[in-house]
Amino acid sequence: MISKDVKYIGVNDHKIDLFEGQYEVPNGMAYNSYLIVDEKIAVMDSVDGAFGEEWLSKIEAELSGRAPDYLVVQHMEPDHSANIDTFAKRYPEAVIVSTDKAFSMMKKFFGTDYAERRIVVKEGDSLSLGRHTLTFYTAPMVHWPEVVMTYDSEDGVLFSADAFGKFGALDVEEEWACEARRYYFGIVGKYGAQVQAVLKKLGGLDIKAICSLHGPVLKENLGYYLDLYNTWSSYGVESEGVVICYTSVYGNTKKAVEALEKGLKTAGCKKVAVNDLARCDMAEAVEDAFRYGKMVLATTTYNGDIFPFMREFIHELLERGYKNREIGIIENGSWAPTAARLIKKMFENSREITFAENTVTINSAVSEENLEQIKRLAEEIV
Ligand code: FEO
Repeated sequence: MISKDVKYIGVNDHKIDLFEGQYEVPNGMAYNSYLIVDEKIAVMDSVDGAFGEEWLSKIEAELSGRAPDYLVVQHMEPDHSANIDTFAKRYPEAVIVSTDKAFSMMKKFFGTDYAERRIVVKEGDSLSLGRHTLTFYTAPMVHWPEVVMTYDSEDGVLFSADAFGKFGALDVEEEWACEARRYYFGIVGKYGAQVQAVLKKLGGLDIKAICSLHGPVLKENLGYYLDLYNTWSSYGVESEGVVICYTSVYGNTKKAVEALEKGLKTAGCKKVAVNDLARCDMAEAVEDAFRYGKMVLATTTYNGDIFPFMREFIHELLERGYKNREIGIIENGSWAPTAARLIKKMFENSREITFAENTVTINSAVSEENLEQIKRLAEEIV
């Protein structure tokens, strides 16, 4: 129970292998849905397709014979929208409340836009349930264009759609920030400007609880979560430290990375995060790249290009508007090293990126001279 009238009716998914077809979720995933019980009853979003019956039973159990009056659809991605039509058939009197864009998507997903039984809301519109009045705030691209957030002024609850969500089911205890950061940069990271716009819009509201579509209900210390969202969406640096992301074919580039890690620590760097891009979860490496202000990329030249995992990693950063960071480079090439030049070229249209003056070029194995260069790179970065 979130308040006297607001109840949790979401589900946990421990069978999922990859969320959104790409993200590893070792602790599963939660698809949240809520009930607001007043003179009128509103259901906030549905859940993933595999959980329709479980979700409908939860609604039924909470309502003891009453039927919902409204289904508020905040987001049309199928992890939340898959059961809209099942709900509409189970409760034929209920009205679907959503944005114009969302109804167009319903037509594409379900073949109907519920023209006979819907309320189309736009920015600032309200819906009264009795004591509770819901006000709608559009949140385009957080995370799809049709998204709307909902504020219940009676209890001060913000239903925030995907924002403030995280990976992980709700029956597993884990730190919020780690999986919320990986989720944010993986899924919404590209849309920092749009997240900033929504944060500004919500700034004047008296928010006592945040109910997102994934992850726990946030009720305490809300400033902490809002501040992190502000840092992430403004591409600010969250933590002091350096992240090294590397690929290594025969272990020589890895030796350089180990020397750099040691050098950074000797030079006074308190936190060094290291990711082997061929073996780690790429979303963890992306999260680290945005978390820290300094990054070193170490990789080989391959087919006259950059080693594939590194190219893919840089592409993931660029796609998310990576900026305001310092980058150091270690390249390795046995006959024609070109990785450093190509990496710089990849970032040529990025804003506020500076490259360390010391670029290290390894020709096969790490030489004594390379070790000196790595030491200088470490000192420059720290
Ligand atoms: Fe949780 Fe964008 O769907």
